[in-house]
Amino acid sequence: MHIEQRSPFAGRVKGIDLAQISPALAEDIRSAMDLHGVLVFPGQNLSQDAQIAFAQAMGPLELGFRRIKTGAHRLKYNELADISNVTTDGEIAAREHTKIVSNLANQLWHSDSSFQKPRAKYSMLSASVVPAFGGETEFADLRLAYDALPDWRKAQVAGLNAVHSALHSRFVLGDTQYTPEQIAMFPPVLWPLVQTDPRTGRKILFVGAHIREIQGMVLAESRLLVMDLLEHATQRDFVYSHQWQVGDLVMWDNTATVHRGRYFDLSERRELRRATTQEVQTSPEAQALPV
Ligand code: OGA
Ligand code: MN
Repeated sequence: MHIEQRSPFAGRVKGIDLAQISPALAEDIRSAMDLHGVLVFPGQNLSQDAQIAFAQAMGPLELGFRRIKTGAHRLKYNELADISNVTTDGEIAAREHTKIVSNLANQLWHSDSSFQKPRAKYSMLSASVVPAFGGETEFADLRLAYDALPDWRKAQVAGLNAVHSALHSRFVLGDTQYTPEQIAMFPPVLWPLVQTDPRTGRKILFVGAHIREIQGMVLAESRLLVMDLLEHATQRDFVYSHQWQVGDLVMWDNTATVHRGRYFDLSERRELRRATTQEVQTSPEAQALPV
């Protein structure tokens, strides 16, 4: 597999047809993901069937974000997340539409589904319509972020556990209209701030927008700590920005990276869809957590 290096952790893969996925190719891609964290496969134009088949070869599929306010699904599979600004009747959604407001949370730095257990491992996002301006997706590597921490910070974060909550990022954006029943659907989960990748042995600084607080810390201090860590992890030099072309498939490891969407004009069409696998083998630190 030929991989062109695009940043310290992002690679661009040519000469592969993901619609022809085989167990051997899937294993090669998993190994490449251990090194890269983000892989771009240009020119794939995968159908929904082919995207699902490719994702299934990478691991057990996650059933998209449980839709609570956004109504009917536009895609053929519930395992495909509809990352678009289009309604079920094919029109561009009004900017106050719950789906748009909900997707805006994707513009905060996050790791997909870190608010649930099991969490997401690989996300595979395919672009079918892209806006003329903006709408990039940015990525930062949480292994490089850990390595670059000064020793005093490494000592400070060692052994800390973060509370991840699905609705926190929405609350931050003022999207607070949830009933107690809806809130109860998403009980928070605990993940260690520092984790060791069971495949590579590398340390990971597991931060992101779904963290509501750090267990056992004063709330304000814990939120400042998370903001500082996220700012460190996503400093400009660490970021790979992906400018979408129709047909691109971008794959990332949610346990080792964070990502965010960027501004685009909501009155322009942007259509992507995402398949996501669940993490099968979690870090020793996460396994050691009380359940
Ligand atoms: C996602 C996501 C960002 C974007 O699909 O998980 O966060 O740029 N997307 O659409
Ligand atoms: Mn995401």
